[in-house]
Amino acid sequence: MSIKEHPPLHVPVLLQDVLTLLQPQSDESYLDLTAGYGGHAREILGITSNYTESTLVDRDEYATRTLGDLQDKGVQVMHTDFLTAAKQLVQDGKHYSLILLDLGVSSPQLDIPERGFSFTKSGPLDMRMDQRQAQSAHTLIDTANRTTLIHLIHEYGEEPKRIAERYADAIIAARPLETTGELAEAIRLAHVGKWQKTHPATRTFQAFRIAINDELHQVRELMPLLPKLLKKGGRVGIISFHSLEDRIVKRYFTEQRDAGYESELDVLTKKPIAGHTHDVHNPRARSAKLRAAVKK
Ligand SMILES: C[S@@+](CC[C@H](N)C(=O)[O-])C[C@H]1O[C@@H](n2cnc3c(N)ncnc32)[C@H](O)[C@@H]1O
Repeated sequence: MSIKEHPPLHVPVLLQDVLTLLQPQSDESYLDLTAGYGGHAREILGITSNYTESTLVDRDEYATRTLGDLQDKGVQVMHTDFLTAAKQLVQDGKHYSLILLDLGVSSPQLDIPERGFSFTKSGPLDMRMDQRQAQSAHTLIDTANRTTLIHLIHEYGEEPKRIAERYADAIIAARPLETTGELAEAIRLAHVGKWQKTHPATRTFQAFRIAINDELHQVRELMPLLPKLLKKGGRVGIISFHSLEDRIVKRYFTEQRDAGYESELDVLTKKPIAGHTHDVHNPRARSAKLRAAVKK
């Protein structure tokens, strides 16, 4: 499938739990900071019917392009990263009843080889969510020194140091690497022992993806802006897909809980709601975690 063809379906993760926790009501305003193909957004806007006070953000133009029908109904669509968008919306004095952040990559990003996120379907080493960005995975992987590669695979891929060193050496020996298939194969050859369900390159791909898209910095800096964007009584839901993201959200919510009378949010989820392991239609859901809070 090429990017120019109609994008494959993205099934919204934890949709029912999002609706139960956020309780969208008729006429409420909605901010979706990772609108993607609009799976959650269409459901929520279908309940609120408030298009003109709602905003959808995504840094992926292939995604925002599919939101034209909602834009025609008066929704503001922003093609930018959510940190830039949030800063702009705070500056504009905007406040919302509902905010959703559904982190990570969409199924079309993973499924279309040209996007360069997939190790099972070989494509160029790209991994940029936003095509306007200068640096792609190719430049990073081809030019990074050993220390940087080890750091990325260990910190962002959460591989043990010893494995990160082995994979970094394998990458350096195999350079220049042009495709995701070549990168996956270099890691597979360096991997020691058997593997079953999870390809040994999974976490290394995660590491480069996080680095290229500056993902953790985006989430970390966004957190304190969320209460500023919520109306009193407004709800925010955050879905994360790996422990590095979830840790940032959890820490921020814990700080809020511990801040006593100075806190701006009440946490609605003592423990995160976990993705459904039995969801065969949506394997992405397996690692999902949902946390939510309400503005005091
Ligand atoms: C899991 S998908 C969202 C799917 C959406 N909730 C739906 O149901 O269709 C994540 C989306 O977030 C976008 N994204 C990830 N990080 C972003 C960031 N920092 N700023 C803006 N968009 C981002 C990706 O491009 C992707 O389209």
